[in-house]
Amino acid sequence: MKNVTLSTLQKHRQEGSIFSCLTAYDATLATLASQAGIHVLLIGDSLGMVLQGHDSTVPVTMQDMIYHTRCVARANTTSLVMADIPFMAHATTEDLLHHSAQLMQAGAHMVKVEGEGWLADGIQALTQRGIPVCAHMGLTPQSVNAFGGYRVQGRSDEAAHRMISDARHLVSAGAAVILLECVPRQVALALREEVNVPVIGIGAGPDVDGQILVMHDMLGATTGRMPRFVKNFMTEASSIQEAFEAYHLAVTERRFPAEEHCF
Ligand code: KIV
Ligand code: NA
Repeated sequence: MKNVTLSTLQKHRQEGSIFSCLTAYDATLATLASQAGIHVLLIGDSLGMVLQGHDSTVPVTMQDMIYHTRCVARANTTSLVMADIPFMAHATTEDLLHHSAQLMQAGAHMVKVEGEGWLADGIQALTQRGIPVCAHMGLTPQSVNAFGGYRVQGRSDEAAHRMISDARHLVSAGAAVILLECVPRQVALALREEVNVPVIGIGAGPDVDGQILVMHDMLGATTGRMPRFVKNFMTEASSIQEAFEAYHLAVTERRFPAEEHCF
């Protein structure tokens, strides 16, 4: 398979075909996921919860992100490697530039950053300097303390309109990809129509360009309550490789997410 790049994702958007994304944190599983054809490997700051046992992503540091980005990048075969900017590492544009450079030098091909309209300056600065950015919107877990819990976002008309107008603003500033977490499927559909970049969804319904899940969740290795939008791909697989392949096919053939996974 050819290496997946940002152009590959843009081509999927233009052609209306779906790409698959999965989080990865370590070398072995990153190799297996990449070999299964997963288009994008995300070193998510969800590692704070699934690897480190914290109850949110707030404690995750740049050191953690650099370490796991190196592990995944070293093992990657053909996937696009995306790495998360952790909590408060993008508090100022200067911080964001410095920390994004560290993740790119650890092997990432692009960075993902949580926020809304206020992120525009930082996104513009990164884009001008040749670092592609994914803007993570909707339920942004680093803000869990402000949200008062992990809740579906964009439920009211006002909130949905604000999210869509912020997304347009961030795309004008240079955001190359938008990731939407836990929003009603109609909001994801409407937002996607207003921007011309690939939109990745998690708990955002089927009408987006790419789907992502946390690896541990889709392998059924969830210790707490399984979120509604997750599907356990191990139940019908006899190996982790098979589960990755089944997920990749289900996403690219539009069989996942199904109605029961949507808000
Ligand atoms: O950290 C993470 O795993 C993420 C995905 C859930 C999108 O940001
Ligand atoms: Na994240």
